[in-house]
Amino acid sequence: MANKLGFYTMDNFDFNGKKTLLRVDINSPIDPVTGRITDDTRIKSHAATIKELLERGASVTILAHQGRPGDTDFTTLENHATLLSKYLNKEVNYVEDVFGPSARSAISSSKPGSVTLLENVRFYSEESIEKVPEAQAKTYLVRYLAPLFSLYVNDAFATSHRSHPSLTGFPMVLPSCGGRLLQKEVEFLSDVMSTSSKPCIFVLGGGKVADSVQLMESLLPKGVADKVLLTGLVSHLFLIAKGERLGKATVKIIEGKGLYPLLPRAQNLLRNYSNKIVTPVDIAILRSDERVELPLGDGQDHSPIYDIGSRTVELYSSIMGEAKVIIMRGPAGYIEDQRFSKGSEELLKAVVKSGAKTLLGGGHLRAISERLGIAEKIDYFSTGGGAFIAFLSGERLPAIEVLSVSAQKFKADR
Ligand code: 3PG
Repeated sequence: MANKLGFYTMDNFDFNGKKTLLRVDINSPIDPVTGRITDDTRIKSHAATIKELLERGASVTILAHQGRPGDTDFTTLENHATLLSKYLNKEVNYVEDVFGPSARSAISSSKPGSVTLLENVRFYSEESIEKVPEAQAKTYLVRYLAPLFSLYVNDAFATSHRSHPSLTGFPMVLPSCGGRLLQKEVEFLSDVMSTSSKPCIFVLGGGKVADSVQLMESLLPKGVADKVLLTGLVSHLFLIAKGERLGKATVKIIEGKGLYPLLPRAQNLLRNYSNKIVTPVDIAILRSDERVELPLGDGQDHSPIYDIGSRTVELYSSIMGEAKVIIMRGPAGYIEDQRFSKGSEELLKAVVKSGAKTLLGGGHLRAISERLGIAEKIDYFSTGGGAFIAFLSGERLPAIEVLSVSAQKFKADR
């Protein structure tokens, strides 16, 4: 059997002289006007895995995606190759082909110690179709590429909630393992989910309101979250669900984003877990071009709510002071405007001060922590968005599950 994770890691294979196919997630935010990658955290985070494979004598070919067909960030991986090359301090051979003759010839002639990055795998239409691993193993991508490789490594934790050919097809036909980043994510998140990590406090904010509601529906009944502290848009939804009057401007935003259908679910959560769900007690708005803090329900009409206020920070900080584990996802306010990043900054400082084990999800919180010089004090930044949520919700991630299937089918060499 593999190990306690249920799948092989890079420790279980000898990579020397082996052509290795590596799936990474370097899907990055792209400026729609310039086409520039605006945050390369994910690219940087795979460097350790690639360096180790190279040091251990593999010739590494990388498969990755960028965006979804039809979206403005759906583009080639040319700029990713340049950034990857910078972080590896090594030339990356970028091939504008996924599995056609140019890609296959580049793989066949690749030498140990070399890195080849193939084109955005989602340029190939079958890649975005969800199917079971058995079916993905029969796709053209897998049929053309698998015979050219000895080993497959999945380091793409952030896409492991998808059953796409590049993720679940190859492990069915090649000896496979999890890469270092994927291993680190799974180990850390599993540890966080263990019962010894109590009390476990979630701080949920940011723009992905439906994801946060879904996460709460999963975590609260299972007792994984002892308290959920809400900020940002999701907190506005729950405040409305509690009957608070937030002002016309905020209500308009909630309406505009189509969040009202989530209201019954928020009300249901409040009915069942009122003692565990905590909402802001004050807010920050814009008045005469300045940040002004108001208690909730002061009855005035004002600008949209842009941040949590100081009393909320105080309340949340004292709850976090009791925590063994804090999981924070998404900023507390409109951080694009410096005046309203205060709530997120103060909460992050409190997270660090709490002494709890800390796990942060999402690029914004990482950027703020770096700006504040406290990033080193955070135990872990997850690269996963949807995968992070799915894992914490207790869902089985297909691209990780299939690594266990692969471990049953193929023997490791170590
Ligand atoms: C992500 O950014 O969450 C992953 O890269 C997965 O992307 P997807 O949601 O387009 O599959």
